[in-house]
Amino acid sequence: MDSYEIAVIPGDGIGVEVVDAALPVVEAAAADAGFEIGTTRFDWGTERYLDRGEMMPDDGIDRLRGFDSVFLGAVGHPEVPDHVTLHGLLLPIRKGLDQYVCKRPNVLFEGIESPLRGYGPGDVDFVVYRENTEGEYASVGGREHRGFDHETAVQSALFTRRGTERIARAAFEAATEREGHLTSITKSNAQAHSMVFWDDVVAEVSEEFPSVDVERLLVDAAAMDLIRRPHEFDVVVASNLFGDILTDIGAQITGSMGLAPSGNVHPGDANPSMFEPVHGSAPDIVGDGVANPLATVLSWSMLFDDLGETAAADALWTAVTDQLADESAPRTPDIGGSAGTGNVAADLRSRL
Ligand code: NAD
Ligand code: IPM
Ligand code: MN
Repeated sequence: MDSYEIAVIPGDGIGVEVVDAALPVVEAAAADAGFEIGTTRFDWGTERYLDRGEMMPDDGIDRLRGFDSVFLGAVGHPEVPDHVTLHGLLLPIRKGLDQYVCKRPNVLFEGIESPLRGYGPGDVDFVVYRENTEGEYASVGGREHRGFDHETAVQSALFTRRGTERIARAAFEAATEREGHLTSITKSNAQAHSMVFWDDVVAEVSEEFPSVDVERLLVDAAAMDLIRRPHEFDVVVASNLFGDILTDIGAQITGSMGLAPSGNVHPGDANPSMFEPVHGSAPDIVGDGVANPLATVLSWSMLFDDLGETAAADALWTAVTDQLADESAPRTPDIGGSAGTGNVAADLRSRL
């Protein structure tokens, strides 16, 4: 029997709640499909930071390298500044394991009411390919001069040819397997260095993919059009920051942050990829037992798909879509129900 070793980092807040609720469902899907997953749980997160002054051990990233995949819940705690926790755990893993493709599907499922008037099941179905290792998150040469009259802070962005080409190529490849439509999002009217470079690289890479039709949008217009005409998007490619922002819009127009899955993918076998829900640690609902576990289950589906275990991936995805389409099934408050995290997970388990 095939077996996979998965590192599980529940992290903070509802990250722990959704990871714990999803795990039995995920293990059952694996068993049904004839393989096993061995999970190693890491207590990395803000509790550890408050206790020992570090989010993860110094060799944390190296310890993840031996795993087939990594699953992460969420990071962020009201008692510690976010830039400390995120730069101590999530962001260094994405970068250190060179997970340069952040893949975020946005699908409006049957049984989910979009806030957009007139949009029904299947009307929204696009995937964002977010650059995940550089861009506005590179923090090269950052400086603060604080504590005097004219304080300054410098936050640079780094766009390399290698980094831009490889995310563009990944997005074009995805478009050839979908509807052949790619939207590249920049701000090249204002950001005349980085974004003009991005536009030029995308134009060059597009020559390798003559069957893909390319649309260019400025990010402000894209924010508008994701709300005005989301049905026209297929594959979206964007920088680290723009991809981050636009995927929260994507989550909301498809129902909830609690439904949005994500993969931080390192294509190839050199490093493991890491899967996680798009949402954060949600301090406003932590401990209430109402966090939606579906984004986490869908992220596990993406993880199984990445391992080539398509039967288990499909079983999880189908269990979620069946549950959402079933009016009598339990659902969490974010999508209009009153059920708890555990009820939703137990119902999913019974659908496998
Ligand atoms: P958030 O995603 O945690 O929450 C935004 C809103 O969505 C909240 O109202 C929350 O209750 C709701 N929500 C999120 N996930 C939900 C779920 N599964 N079910 C039901 N409702 C859900 O974003 P935020 O409030 O901006 O950030 C909170 C903390 O999380 C901060 O510390 C932030 O830095 C961190 N964060 C971490 C990640 C990550 O680990 N990948 C992502 C985003 C934010
Ligand atoms: C996400 C989050 C992170 C990001 C934050 C918490 C650093 O918003 O995964 O979308 O910006 O990538
Ligand atoms: Mn985000």
